[in-house]
This record gives sequence, C-alpha cells and structure tokens, in this order.
Amino acid sequence: MPVKVLFVCLGNICRSPTAEGVFRYLVREAGLHKHIHIDSAGTANWHSGRTPDPRTIAAAKKRNVDLSVLRARAVTAEDFEEFDYILAMDDANLKDLQNSKPVNYKGHLSLFLDFATHKLYRHVPDPYHGEADGFELVLDLVEDAAAGLLLAIKARHF
Ligand code: 4NP
Repeated sequence: MPVKVLFVCLGNICRSPTAEGVFRYLVREAGLHKHIHIDSAGTANWHSGRTPDPRTIAAAKKRNVDLSVLRARAVTAEDFEEFDYILAMDDANLKDLQNSKPVNYKGHLSLFLDFATHKLYRHVPDPYHGEADGFELVLDLVEDAAAGLLLAIKARHF
C-alpha cells in the first residue's frame, strides 16, 4: 500500500498545488513515485475544477515544476479515510480540518511547515492578494518542508 499525502490550503490554487508539485518532483527523483501517492485540496470549493493561479504556475515553472496539469478540488470526508498525512498550510486550514476530522482518524494531521528545517515561518503565507515575491516565498518554504517531509516518510515507512 502506498503512503498517501494530501496538502491543504484555502483555495487549492496557490500554496497546496505548489506543495503537491514540488513534493511530486522530489518523490520522483527519489524513485518513490510508486510508493507515495500525492494530492492537494482546498478547504473552500470556490475554484474547483480550475488550474492553479497563473502566478503560481509561472513561479513553479522557473524551478522546473509543472503545475498546469493540476485541477482544484475541495477537501472531502473521504480524504480522512484515504490519506495517511494531511498537511495544512496555515492555522485557519488546520482548524477547519480539525473541525471536520472524524474522531477515529488515525493519520497525521499537522501544519506542513512542522517538517521544515528553517523555523522562521510556521505557516506558508497566502500569496493570493499580494505581490509576486509572495509566490517565490511560497516556493522557498515549500521546497524546504517537502525535503523534510520526504526524509520523515522515508525514515518511518521505507
Ligand atoms: P491558496 O490561495 O489558499 O493558497 O490557494 C488562495 C486562493 C484564492 C483565494 C484565497 C487564497 N480567494 O480568496 O479566492
């Protein structure tokens, strides 16, 4: 059975697709793509079916990560049955997930940046209403935490 990882933000068009794409890249490089299943979702359904924000796609492309194939969706009750790791980008996302989490959820639910090595940020700041450098910061934080997450999953499962 693969280990299943779900990244969650608010709209599923900026932060969590970035985390999905960057983590996919690292997992493929590590040759573990058959053993780690990766997805992302939003706590809101406003953008369901849409591609990531064009600014998100452009920033990731500069780092060789293609996000254009992804489509937004909202978190569902089934996600708690399916995913071993559910990783929130900020406290509001985490609180929403904790409120909808079934009492018997056995997986790991936390902030994604708990896996980061640099501890300057606890959250991935929402870049949606900000400037272009917000998207670079998202990538910097996500790359760091994605590497830490892969180490943690390797140590625990492989
Ligand atoms: P995300 O960013 O949660 O990182 O996908 C946002 C995307 C859209 C909105 C807010 C945040 N919005 O208000 O539509």
